[in-house]
Amino acid sequence: MLTAMLILGIESSCDETAVALVRDGHEIVASLVASQIELHQPYGGIVPEVACRAHSEWLPALLDQIQRESGLALRDVDGIAGTAEPGLIGALLVGLTSAKSLAWAYGKPFVGVNHIDGHIHATRMRHREMPFPHLSLVVSGGHTEIYLSESAVKKTLVAQTMDDAAGECFDKVAALLGLGYPGGPRIQQISEGGDRKAVRFPRGKSGDDGMQLSFSGLKTAVLYYLRDHGFEIQGGRPRVAAMEARKADETLTVPMENTLADIAASFQEAAVDMLIRAVMGSVRATGVRHVGLTGGVAANTRLRAKLRAAGEKGRFEVYLCPRELCTDNAAFIAGMGYELIRAGMVDTLERDAVPN
Ligand code: KG4
Ligand code: ZN
Repeated sequence: MLTAMLILGIESSCDETAVALVRDGHEIVASLVASQIELHQPYGGIVPEVACRAHSEWLPALLDQIQRESGLALRDVDGIAGTAEPGLIGALLVGLTSAKSLAWAYGKPFVGVNHIDGHIHATRMRHREMPFPHLSLVVSGGHTEIYLSESAVKKTLVAQTMDDAAGECFDKVAALLGLGYPGGPRIQQISEGGDRKAVRFPRGKSGDDGMQLSFSGLKTAVLYYLRDHGFEIQGGRPRVAAMEARKADETLTVPMENTLADIAASFQEAAVDMLIRAVMGSVRATGVRHVGLTGGVAANTRLRAKLRAAGEKGRFEVYLCPRELCTDNAAFIAGMGYELIRAGMVDTLERDAVPN
């Protein structure tokens, strides 16, 4: 049994540049995340070229900073983990190549980590009691999947979205509602003052096994709702920025009975219901009664509350990823790296980045 193993993690798969030092897979010694949100905001989404440049500019400074803040030197770590897949190829290459270079320079074991494995491990970092096998609902900007983990290093896919990821759907609907990017947190915030029963958006089909997931229909339903309820459409997209002015507009023929908050809350409810339904289907299909929730969308308050309630009703145990570990970070990459190294799954420096 290896003891007190300190791993450096580097994450750069998307729009967060992150480094972390983690002891024994769960104890976060230091974790730094530099978010690029402001850089991408003017474009309403992530621009890969912008992301790559920021990663390569920021990573060296973050590596310096983590040494200063932790009082530890990178040459003293026991292993180095970098996100190898999936993600934006150029973005992945920046972090992965840095991780490999450091491992080579300091003569340390190197391991490439699957980003989804990292998200799943994030829940286990807090809930170390979570038994195997367990299910994990991974809901992020790029992924909406349910996995069955037999061990920390072995998982199989149980269910996945047929089209858009849930986070992508939150982001697109937020853009339709004029709420800006990233959409998830903004939809959650505005929904707090809304009536989630105001509009009954479709929940799609659950499929015979109850595990079917699809989000493109929901996004289109919101688009049609806006179009049919007096929202101005420009370039095929409704513009709802001037809500108050429009409400006061007596020439408006279609009554504006629901506010933006009602529409957002109703959308959020439909998205959450679909996710919960697929989890319940997966519990039934696999017989596994321990369910983790992770990924950026797992920070959503309504999803957390409804999954907890579903667990109590359906008699399965729910393990929520701590909010600070839901969105992308390098702590979960270092944590997962530890599990791989402990299982003897060390990589050579030939391990390449894979976008999908
Ligand atoms: O895991 P993550 O940081 O990056 C990916 O791997 O994709 O997830 C980002 C996604 C974005 O789509 C964002 O809108 C969504 O997570 N998100 C949320 C919330 N916080 C972040 N969605 C719903 N509610 C939230 N509170
Ligand atoms: Zn992620």
